Amino acid sequence: MKVTARACANIALVKYWGKRDSTLNLPATGSLSLTLDALTTETTVEFDPALAADVLELDGTVVDARRIAGVLDRVRLRAGLATFARVTSRNDFPTASGLASSASGFAALALAASRAAGLPLDDKGLSALARHGSGSAARSIFGGFVRMRAGATDAEAYAEPVPSPLLDKVRMVIAIVGGGAPKSKLSRDAMEHTRLTSPYYRAWLELVPEDLAIAEAALAAGDLASLGEVAEANALAMHASAMAARPAIHYWQPATLALLAEIRGLRECGVSAWATMDAGPHVKILTTVDEAERVQAAVRVVDGVTAVTIAAAGAAASIV
Ligand code: PMV
Repeated sequence: MKVTARACANIALVKYWGKRDSTLNLPATGSLSLTLDALTTETTVEFDPALAADVLELDGTVVDARRIAGVLDRVRLRAGLATFARVTSRNDFPTASGLASSASGFAALALAASRAAGLPLDDKGLSALARHGSGSAARSIFGGFVRMRAGATDAEAYAEPVPSPLLDKVRMVIAIVGGGAPKSKLSRDAMEHTRLTSPYYRAWLELVPEDLAIAEAALAAGDLASLGEVAEANALAMHASAMAARPAIHYWQPATLALLAEIRGLRECGVSAWATMDAGPHVKILTTVDEAERVQAAVRVVDGVTAVTIAAAGAAASIV
């Protein structure tokens, strides 16, 4: 059967950076994110007996299919299937540039592949399956605010939605730096290098549960300022631990710092705006529905910013 699934990317407000187990892709800590409607991936999977190997076409180009073998092999094993798959995937935003394309991509793949194989999985099972492609993908199975559990075992490391009165009130302004060019260091390798060599990695592991507790309390209370403050501080701590690795991991460009200064300036003028950055130079700004356009106008003119998008909370992954 041929199945197409759609998933939205998500941006972490409390980051995942480091694994407890790289074979099972178990995160060292939990994390918390917002799924975004403006960044989507559509993936079609067809298991075809005529194929001698998996085939992956990403944004119109045939690429190495080994990167999706972890998810496809698990689906085949559990469905009792020996057939290879043809997978076609399309992002409506730049791939592999720190804009979370692996999150939406592997979430859409997990849903489309399990359905195409006739494997019935509940949301937790789908989330744990997507995690084998990319840790952040476990969160993109769900819409809105999402909590990822560190989980002690394969089946326990899944994500789940977190209800909050903030859901309809927030926006994420995405400032693209440098045209969304592919990043030089994949997050998978970079977080492992941080774990192995950064003197701040241990401090990072101690910090995350505290930040998660603050963020969850803010979500429950509808306290955007508290959520924004912890999100920006947590992102800076993640980057600090990566920058302290030996040799250092740098994702920022001059425009990244200029954006951070601009956002501080906006806050000094009373605007609700807080920044977060992932494995790339782009800056994503958590703000309100009413202030999103003002934030967009302010960051659009920062030198080095090539595009700005406003995203609202996105929906759960679904079959198209
Ligand atoms: O899911 P991965 O392996 O691409 O790692 C994601 C890492 C960050 O985006 C930097 C943080 C996160 O929690 O999404």
